[in-house]
Amino acid sequence: MYDSGKVIAGLVVFAALFLCPFLYNHGSMTAQPKPSLDTPAIKKLAAKRCVEDREFMVAHHMQFLNEWRDEALRNGNRWYRNKAGEKYLISLQNSCLKCHSNKKEFCDKCHVYAGVKPYCWDCHIDPNGSKL
Ligand code: HEC
Ligand code: HEC
Ligand code: HEC
Repeated sequence: MYDSGKVIAGLVVFAALFLCPFLYNHGSMTAQPKPSLDTPAIKKLAAKRCVEDREFMVAHHMQFLNEWRDEALRNGNRWYRNKAGEKYLISLQNSCLKCHSNKKEFCDKCHVYAGVKPYCWDCHIDPNGSKL
């Protein structure tokens, strides 16, 4: 007869090791990217906030950028007032990429993971030279 206690202990250890990566990654096999917020402009902010709240930016920054473009080019308006009433310059290069000056460690990190390649940089310039 084998020692059922040891078998069970073995199974528990196996299950724990096997489940570990799933638990750490919330069920996905590859680690979610962690876009870095470590930039000089963000360091200087008293309140570490984006133009709109984080959840909104994560979910809607693509459409949001299109709205900014239309606002600037069709309506000739270069200022955006957010939900909290704060004013931001409407500019991909001089606003988004001023705070997020680490495009490689920020925008690109998510985009590579998600397999998207925004074509914006055919024309717009990343002040730090990333062409992805
Ligand atoms: C004034 C500085 C500033 C500007 C301008 C700015 N951001 Fe942000 N952004 C931040 C900060 C700070 C955070 C982190 C917010 C938080 O954690 O609540 C952030 C978060 C984000 C996030 C979510 C990242 C994550 O993983 O949680 C996205 C996406 C984003 N910004 C995109 C943009 C885009 C696109 C623009 C231009 C339309 C922009 N940001 C303009 C400072 C800025
Ligand atoms: C938290 C992760 C994350 C960060 C940070 C992030 N993006 Fe994205 N972005 C995505 C995802 C995911 C998509 C694809 C979404 C979809 O197709 O619905 C996307 C799509 C886009 C698109 C549309 C591309 C297309 O082909 O449709 C643009 C433009 C864009 N991002 C710009 C930016 C810019 C500029 C920054 C940095 C300032 C940035 N993003 C930072 C996750 C991120
Ligand atoms: C074919 C070239 C081209 C491509 C590709 C392009 N843009 Fe633009 N974009 C322009 C030009 C030209 C302007 C006008 C610049 C100005 O008047 O300041 C502009 C202006 C903008 C503006 C408002 C002003 C500013 O300085 O940021 C935003 C926001 C913008 N584009 C976002 C985007 C995004 C997001 C993408 C990718 C999904 C993109 N653009 C792709 C050429 C392009």
